[in-house]
Amino acid sequence: MKHIDAAAHTRGESIYLDDIPLIRGTLFGAVYGSPVAHGIVRRLDTAEAEQCPGVVRVFTFRDVTGENQIGGIMPDEPLFAAEHVHFCGMPMAFVVAVSEEAAKHAAGKIKVEIDPLPVITDPRVAKERGELIVPPRTFRLGEIDEAWPLCEYIFEGRADTNGQEHLYIETQGAYAVPMENQTIRIYSSTQAPTAVQRAVSKVTGLAMHALDIEVGRLGGGFGGKEDQANGWAALCALACLHLRKPVKYSMPRADDMVMTGKRHPYSSDFKIGLDKDFKILAYAVTFYQNAGAAADLSPAVMERTLFHCTNSYFIPNVRATAYSCRTNLPPNTAFRGFGGPQGMFVIEAAIAKSAESLGVPASLIQERNLQQTGDEFPYGQKAVSEARACWRKAEELYDLGELRASVEEYNRTNRLFKKGLAMMPVCFGISFTKTLMNQARAQVHVYTDGSVSVSTGAVEMGQGVNTKMIQVAAAVFSIDIDMVKVQATSTWKIANTSPSAASATADLNGKAVLMACTAILERLKEVAAIELGGKADIVLKDGRVWAGGEETGMSWKQLVMAAFVRRVSLSEHAHYATPGIHFDASREKGHPFAYHVYGTAIVMATLDCLRGRYSFDAVKVVHDFGVSMNPVIDRGQIEGGIVQGIGWMTMEEIVYDEEGRLRSNTLSAYKVPDIYSVPSQIDIDFLNTEQDNLAIFRSKAVGEPPLMYGIGAYFALRNAIRAFNPSVELPFNAPLTPEKALMGLYENQLKYAGG
Ligand code: MTE
Ligand code: HPA
Ligand code: MOS
Repeated sequence: MKHIDAAAHTRGESIYLDDIPLIRGTLFGAVYGSPVAHGIVRRLDTAEAEQCPGVVRVFTFRDVTGENQIGGIMPDEPLFAAEHVHFCGMPMAFVVAVSEEAAKHAAGKIKVEIDPLPVITDPRVAKERGELIVPPRTFRLGEIDEAWPLCEYIFEGRADTNGQEHLYIETQGAYAVPMENQTIRIYSSTQAPTAVQRAVSKVTGLAMHALDIEVGRLGGGFGGKEDQANGWAALCALACLHLRKPVKYSMPRADDMVMTGKRHPYSSDFKIGLDKDFKILAYAVTFYQNAGAAADLSPAVMERTLFHCTNSYFIPNVRATAYSCRTNLPPNTAFRGFGGPQGMFVIEAAIAKSAESLGVPASLIQERNLQQTGDEFPYGQKAVSEARACWRKAEELYDLGELRASVEEYNRTNRLFKKGLAMMPVCFGISFTKTLMNQARAQVHVYTDGSVSVSTGAVEMGQGVNTKMIQVAAAVFSIDIDMVKVQATSTWKIANTSPSAASATADLNGKAVLMACTAILERLKEVAAIELGGKADIVLKDGRVWAGGEETGMSWKQLVMAAFVRRVSLSEHAHYATPGIHFDASREKGHPFAYHVYGTAIVMATLDCLRGRYSFDAVKVVHDFGVSMNPVIDRGQIEGGIVQGIGWMTMEEIVYDEEGRLRSNTLSAYKVPDIYSVPSQIDIDFLNTEQDNLAIFRSKAVGEPPLMYGIGAYFALRNAIRAFNPSVELPFNAPLTPEKALMGLYENQLKYAGG
């Protein structure tokens, strides 16, 4: 089954926030953000802005009717800056006018006086000064201090990864419409309707039941709209409440880039110890997470970094500590992988460092330490592992020996171009790391014409979750997919939703749909049995009713009508909560994940050693899908994840200056992968596994894991650089941009040139 939105997307007919027909009288907002990263506000002068043509009103912290607070995990993030500003672009005022242009123009007339305070942009500096969002956490396995003396080889180093713009095609935004009876409907581009509802409730003082947050679809979220859609919705709602007019704010790209948080940059220190057979005996790692100016989701992201700090490897002695460091950058937030990629980069760097020092291929160390079923993660869960199966299949299927030989042959015969190859195994845990978030609801109606309507808390952001929900309902009722529609996500229809995130959306909401449909099906079967004179073994098949293995002549539609006539309910609301998961944060042990997703990628790169430019020849993957319920969509998720991961590792470079101002604030200064940077070849092999699992229809979550195959791109390039310049001492510092590659290629010469 194709993605149900495919045709409408292609024709430009799909409705995004900006396509919603406007109600007459709609007003438009513009945000004025702090021009400095840290300081005390002395004066905020909106007088001139208020006099500008078309301006209706300028809102500041004084106009907040509830609390001036949008922090999700903890209340440390004001909606409007009041006495202090903590990052460049921190909202200080919201101008509302009759047009977007008028609002923007007036925002430019706002004047502020801010006494500057010292600006911190480096997480290690923040840690030195005690600027932590939450106390540090440490995950432990084994007895690391006893393990070091047993190690034959010990290596230490540092690894840095930079942030990443979400660059969803649709920017952040909201449209608040006043309804009767003191209620507001907000169309929001959010992954988390309930989070928006909560934040708006807090800011306005209205109860949650007065707020209908409606989401048709997103033009991408990638984590950027898990927690950071709240503020814009709150601004629109607040203005709507004061003015009793519809208010819309859809962020200009430049504002979105400056004001919203990104993937967390990390700086980390590692120490790794191996025995003489290259078995990793000990791994110690310290992560410094650059959280930005407020908590946002940083503590949860930090937690997932710890969960994934050993990637696919079993290491018997581990000590991993993480600091969430407060800096004067916009609060960094969820981004595909949610801290996992940052953790995995460091263990891969530690292995690469060991391999380079020992003069062996990294893959030798990687393979030797791959985890097996029954191995314990540092957080106590026992693995049901496909790590070795994926690796082995990749090796055989893609003829790794032959690929390696071709790279070596190429490098022998080419002086100014070099190739590099890297293996990238991935292991990613599925479930929100916060156990309570692993619940979902669905509401299913069957109408008297036999058509079916499904509502869940799931948000469609391109990942295809609506298509999968339709597949679930159609499969249970055994009817055509055209008979099922998924409705826009709404907090009045489905309450208390978790964000569409953690790759778990289809699992959680799909299971709820499954439960609701199954309950209706059971009632329908009872009706059929009565209608058919007490026949047993009722089964629905392809829109027909079967009994005792024979077709009865009764259709799905007739059965539905019969149930209605008998006054049997054709609707159901179901609640699903992932069974068996738990985590005890006081011991940092438990069973936090429903299951893990595994895979192995072979990444091959070609580097132009005169210019530092590179391209990716191939990414060849064996991926553990369980049993994919939609191979077309799942393949798309893998391809997209790989390209997004390669972008993070190689070309996307966020630059803040020392004053905390974003320098890479345009699409000409911030390079994302385009069609030319996509690998020439992406091969995806489906490792179909027979084992039962907690995924919907055993079809394992696929949204985030493939991003981490992109980490292989860094190491493939690194290997190409080393093929040209074997003595280079390249820091583990991503992204490995063409500039950095060029520096690496000629490092020694540059050193000579510099004396
Ligand atoms: N795919 C598309 N097209 N657009 C997106 O915004 N977000 C990713 C991933 N794939 C995203 C995407 C992220 S960060 C997550 S957590 C998952 O999709 C969320 O959806 P799922 O839980 O249904 O996999
Ligand atoms: N993943 C994604 N989003 C989240 C998580 C998680 O584990 N926890 C809270 N929000
Ligand atoms: Mo995805 S980072 O969990 O929205």
